Amino acid sequence: MAYYQGKTAVVTGAASGIGRALTIRMVRDGARVAAADVNAAGLDETLRLCADLPGSADKYILDVSDRAAFFAFADQVLADFGTLELVFNNAGVAQFGLARNLDIEDYEWLLGINLWGVIYGSKAFMPHMLARKSGQIVNISSVFGFVGIRGQSAYNTSKFAVRGFTESLARELVGTGVSGHCVHPGGIRTNIASDARFKDGGDLYASKEEAIKLSDKILFTAPDKAARIILRGVARNKRRIRVGVDALFYDLLARVAPVGYGRVLRLLGG
Ligand code: NAI
Repeated sequence: MAYYQGKTAVVTGAASGIGRALTIRMVRDGARVAAADVNAAGLDETLRLCADLPGSADKYILDVSDRAAFFAFADQVLADFGTLELVFNNAGVAQFGLARNLDIEDYEWLLGINLWGVIYGSKAFMPHMLARKSGQIVNISSVFGFVGIRGQSAYNTSKFAVRGFTESLARELVGTGVSGHCVHPGGIRTNIASDARFKDGGDLYASKEEAIKLSDKILFTAPDKAARIILRGVARNKRRIRVGVDALFYDLLARVAPVGYGRVLRLLGG
């Protein structure tokens, strides 16, 4: 997409899945990307895949749940790149387990990454973007930001919150030249389930393997296709980007049956 030619972008969670695909696609289109993640080996692989492409990707080790580290990272990127036009707050983790089986620490861990990571990433680059009256803040929620799922209370909390934060932010930013975008992917074939934490005590899933197997059935969109849809939506300045037919389905379901959607999900095995 010509839109990304010469642009500067940050992608968190760039060592795998959607973040890696976003990075590769933008670099292919001629962008300069700050690829950030906790996973150094995964970042090396992302950079290797970008090596012969027209743009460039730089590696930054970052734990998005570390507030001081995130703001220091933003300063570093602005010093290295001179300016920043796009931030994709994408890093995320998942947790399987009924609320009754989770500890408070499980919620703190997940919200630290999936929610605070998004807030830090939005706040860290906002002053720069507002000053230059231009920029796009792209936050990754989920279809789990549309409906509540059994065994996903921590993840659901984070993704509804990312949606609320981003929709509020997007409204506040109208007229500033900066925009906020909320992305709702359906099931994307990445490492999100295999890398998830599991604490269920056999109440919902017999084992982590079973939880992964069930999840894999619904993670059917390729990450590269997801990245293409997200980048097209951002280029068209869409505030709300749904990825995959399942995302359209969950969105519709939540609208037509805002209370009764659970019965439909039960019929589908959810
Ligand atoms: P993934 O597991 O393939 O990639 C997530 C990346 O985030 C990994 O590289 C991981 O190292 C990184 N990460 C984890 N904790 C981090 C931390 N503290 N600091 C920095 N990086 C960290 O998963 P995927 O699917 O690519 O996830 C990307 C985003 O998309 C997440 O926010 C996820 O919740 C969201 N999403 C994914 C869906 C799916 O079906 N795969 C569906 C809806 C939303």
